[in-house]
Amino acid sequence: MSKFYITTPLYYVNDEPHIGHAYTTILADVIARIKKLQDNDVYFLTGTDEHGQKVQEAAKKRNVQPKEHVDEYVKRFKATWENLNIDYDYFIRTTDKNHTERVKQILADLYKKGDIYFDEYEGLYSVSEERFITEKEKEEGNFRQIKKIKEKNYFFKMSKYQSNLIKHIESNENFILPKSRRNEILGFLKNDLNDLCISRPKSRLAWGIELPFDKEYVTYVWFDALINYISAIGYNNDNEKFNYYWPADYHLMAKDILTTHCVYWPTMLMSCNISLPNTIFAHGWWLMDNTKMSKSLGNVVKPLDLADKYGSDALRYYLMRNMVLGQDASFTIESFKKRYNSDLANDYGNLVNRIFILISKHFENSIPEKGKYDLDDNDFIKNIENLTNLSIQNYSNIKIHDGIENTISIFRTVNKFLEDKAPWKTIKENKNIAGTTIYLSAEALRIGTVLLYPIIPEKSKKILNAMDCCPKDDTTFGFLKENSSINVIKNIFPRIED
Ligand code: MSP
Repeated sequence: MSKFYITTPLYYVNDEPHIGHAYTTILADVIARIKKLQDNDVYFLTGTDEHGQKVQEAAKKRNVQPKEHVDEYVKRFKATWENLNIDYDYFIRTTDKNHTERVKQILADLYKKGDIYFDEYEGLYSVSEERFITEKEKEEGNFRQIKKIKEKNYFFKMSKYQSNLIKHIESNENFILPKSRRNEILGFLKNDLNDLCISRPKSRLAWGIELPFDKEYVTYVWFDALINYISAIGYNNDNEKFNYYWPADYHLMAKDILTTHCVYWPTMLMSCNISLPNTIFAHGWWLMDNTKMSKSLGNVVKPLDLADKYGSDALRYYLMRNMVLGQDASFTIESFKKRYNSDLANDYGNLVNRIFILISKHFENSIPEKGKYDLDDNDFIKNIENLTNLSIQNYSNIKIHDGIENTISIFRTVNKFLEDKAPWKTIKENKNIAGTTIYLSAEALRIGTVLLYPIIPEKSKKILNAMDCCPKDDTTFGFLKENSSINVIKNIFPRIED
């Protein structure tokens, strides 16, 4: 059994989670479930980023203390993940004592080592992004609320690790994925790296982890938050666990936080003499009317509103199927309904109804016995096996949307097979032939349902249980037992009517 450690970003608790946060978390959950089914020892980490200016401002707006604010908002994240069937192993909060202690310890070590130094700095500061930016970054126009600030601060010698980082990226093709993001970071690293300002004077920001070597300062929120990926699995606390799970197999996120993960984080790890994560994967953005869905733009869709109305599986399915991993996708309620009705209600849901009704009507609620296969039956089995293999391959390569499309093709193939073979007609002349058709169709339905389990765990389990099967079952054709009994379920994916 091999270990598989996967993480999501820690979300800011300045507001409730939206579809964008839900997407990364569902994606991590889907990958974790796929890996679990393949018998990996999976550790799936998510959590909340609770320090820093954004959170301090959100608390101030609500007229409450930051701690009171985060304690309340963290519940909304946890409740959302529960509702969306997110099966994480650990939820870390950056205000957890274990985490804050690890951060302080690392700061103290790096200060002692000489990788953190005190200096006066005058530069451009983006209040919205909470960091100093370069003139070039200002010109590129991606930063807001820019001020000129002159301040004494602590700096991390990020520049010292620049050439080692470039070497690492160049010699590890899968370190940053997709490839386009890797090229982006290599392009960024062509310019000299500045050292990283890792402190904020308390006069400006009080809500953070105090520096162990200077009471007048708190830690820059990113230097604090990134450390979660190692503090959560026992760094400097439970070394056995840490050595087992580290390095992370996948750090998942969207492209907005690529630089912090691909430049700040690896250089911090290098300074700590810790190996680097295997893969940093940045997916695209969910857009609303061509702009990024984000709290600050006020164009967010709340995942729970959709999950409450249509079920969490419907939302999980849509998000996984409609985003090509790595590219941006547009969220519209119309595309949500269209996708649901065409794939889940029509292709899949109708097939489930059809097969269950045929078995209950003609075979007393038990899976028919298969007779001799004819040429069409053999072709059908071959087609289903090909689609199954393709689907598994795509899931393994994290091409989730392609894997889903292959699985839905299985259902389309079965629907066509049933129409061609018309067992509701042949049953009158030859029950044996009709039984074979229905067995083969039910078996393909079972395989497709097992393949969809990571995406739609609730409905998939329900259908498999009704067939006396389970999500961990084999996807080899012919696994379904003849004569096993079924419990008829009705209307598993009711159509969404306008
Ligand atoms: N707190 C930092 C991360 C620290 S990780 C050590 C942060 N938080 S965040 O709340 O802003 O979350 C950003 C992440 O949320 C993105 O990288 C992505 O995973 C997810 N998304 C937020 N909006 C999104 C979209 N519109 N589309 C897709 N994903 C989005 O950054």
